[in-house]
Amino acid sequence: MNIVILTGAGISAESGVPTFRAQDGLWCGHRVEDVATPEAYERNPVLVQSFYNTRRAQLREVQPNDAHHALARLERDWDGDYLLVTQNVDDLHDRARDAYPELGRRDAFAGRPGLIHMHGELLKARCTECEQVCHWRADLEVHSACVCQNGVLRPHIVWFGEMPLMMHAIERAVAQCDLFVSIGTSGAVYPAAGFVQLARAAGAETVEINLEPTVQRGLFDRGYYGLAGAQVPLFVEELLSTGL
Ligand code: OAD
Repeated sequence: MNIVILTGAGISAESGVPTFRAQDGLWCGHRVEDVATPEAYERNPVLVQSFYNTRRAQLREVQPNDAHHALARLERDWDGDYLLVTQNVDDLHDRARDAYPELGRRDAFAGRPGLIHMHGELLKARCTECEQVCHWRADLEVHSACVCQNGVLRPHIVWFGEMPLMMHAIERAVAQCDLFVSIGTSGAVYPAAGFVQLARAAGAETVEINLEPTVQRGLFDRGYYGLAGAQVPLFVEELLSTGL
């Protein structure tokens, strides 16, 4: 039995990472189009780098919560195929997985079978010319140079208008899954928001876990509503004890 899990900002909310669609319509005080598009980077690279430098530095202040830990346990104990696709650019799933060394370290940048960061990662940078990706924990400056000497380093983040990462691998897994679980995502941003329909077309059971029913509630067979830190561990216990 194959599982695909999709997570969004809601799973990291209890760790203290702000979600995107807060009531003021701003993302940490900025309009998305001012900080999360290629045009914004061209127009004002200082602002964009500084925005992501702040997000990257905030990762030092946060820890994985019970929901991240429960998913790592599920990956360890589940007998079938398991893929976790996250839209989050934080490293909280990675750190929760690190508690289980048997899950293995991730291949350099190809992504490991268990976890795909489809919208990129704050702790990586990418060359604007050769597109090589490298680990990056410090602040990025506008002129941070790549070893290729031709380009500069930008955040390894998928901005609006850019193609999410590893879409073929994700779509293949969703089309072959028996259970699709969407956790802490508003279902507002495509292509991730379309995965539930792909899973349904494949005959998979579909489950939503969220603070509240989302606009996509009608596409899910079951829903668990409340804090992810409480609901996800309950769901994982139930799944591991009763199966699909
Ligand atoms: P959103 O901010 O759109 O949605 C967060 C979801 O989490 C909402 O449905 C909330 O109800 C839910 N939520 C909040 N706190 C929760 C909690 N403690 N427990 C459970 N659920 C909770 O974030 P995403 O759906 O992840 O893309 O946004 C998708 C993409 O839009 C992001 O990856 C980002 C953004 O623009 C890029 O940057 C490319």
